[in-house]
Amino acid sequence: MPRIAVIPGDGIGVDVTREAVKVMTAIRDSGIDLEWDEFDYCADKYLETGITLPDAEIVNFRDNYDAIFIGAVGDPRVPDMTHARDILLGLRFKLDLYVNYRPVHLLDESLCPLKGKGPDDVNFTVFRENTEGLYSGTGGIMKKGTPDEVAIQTSINTRKGVERICRHAFEYARANGLKKVCMSDKSNAMRFEGDLWQRAFHEVANEYPDIEANHWFIDALLMQMVKRPEQFEVIVSCNMFGDIITDMGAQLCGGMGLAASGNIHPGRTSLFEPVHGSAPKYAGKDVANPLAAILTVGLMLEHLGYPEWTPRLEDIIRDMVRNGNVPRDMGGDLGTKAVGDWVSEQVSKGAREQGSKGAGDALSFRT
Ligand code: NAI
Ligand code: MG
Repeated sequence: MPRIAVIPGDGIGVDVTREAVKVMTAIRDSGIDLEWDEFDYCADKYLETGITLPDAEIVNFRDNYDAIFIGAVGDPRVPDMTHARDILLGLRFKLDLYVNYRPVHLLDESLCPLKGKGPDDVNFTVFRENTEGLYSGTGGIMKKGTPDEVAIQTSINTRKGVERICRHAFEYARANGLKKVCMSDKSNAMRFEGDLWQRAFHEVANEYPDIEANHWFIDALLMQMVKRPEQFEVIVSCNMFGDIITDMGAQLCGGMGLAASGNIHPGRTSLFEPVHGSAPKYAGKDVANPLAAILTVGLMLEHLGYPEWTPRLEDIIRDMVRNGNVPRDMGGDLGTKAVGDWVSEQVSKGAREQGSKGAGDALSFRT
């Protein structure tokens, strides 16, 4: 039975995780074997005890759980982000979660800020390299606080790292019947890492002759995402560009309240989280939108072998949007808890209908 480690974290992370767990409970009650335990790693714990996320716990997650769900971490009382860095980046790096998986999937035309673009136009998947690049923490500051100060941030790109994320993008395309993979870099200006990305991408692409491989420089890619998003099926990029691409992608689909993500090492314990942060000003006020966290449950179930849940949850959310039954950041007036209640009720209702349909089918088969 899949086991999940749930870390609500800080701020609205706690609010949205409560609703995601509510939906997970409805899904479990509809007949899927799932089990989870909650862990209280967060700013409060760090401020009280100095504990962020012990290495032994990461080993426990790796050995005894199939997935980790995190709400969000980050708290103004910890301005240097120590606990958030240890928890999020610690898990990403120590579990080698090299695939950052972020679907950009518009559920309804009304959610898209682009004129005349609908769900068929904004429907692609972004794979962001998640363990290297400019976010690997390599660099330093010299002569800090003096007029001669020097700050160096180094972009790390390994052959292994670049190749495996490119290969993952092609594998995903092939597994999902998609025909196009686009790589984005800035190889015209950043020649050394660009050279490696170009060679690795095209060499991997040669192994997938059934899939068209193309390329945009990152600045042009962002323009194309606005101008002709329908040209994209799968996009692969480095850590920083992937970060930027997916924030814009989230906005094309209705904003942070709906953006879900997975941090994955195929076949191993992986981490799932809504893209948004802990939005401290909304914490505990029943205003945060839990739909990103709920869609994240769908991505997690996909990783655990239940891919049918993402489209089911998307159907429920699409209905909510069409009926104007949405949370505040999407223009409605549903509170955080009401959204969680609604979605879980729809999950249970769907399961009851499936159940009675199944029983009816069985009956007609017998007669
Ligand atoms: P944020 O995503 O927490 O919030 C930015 C703004 O987006 C909010 O003020 C709010 O207006 C809106 N927003 C975000 N999620 C929402 C939701 N579910 N419902 C309704 N509105 C929502 O980003 P911000 O303000 O830059 O960071 C706040 C804290 O979160 C910081 O400590 C930051 O480091 C941390 N953070 C953590 C992340 C994570 O755990 N993965 C990711 C991003 C930020
Ligand atoms: Mg980001």
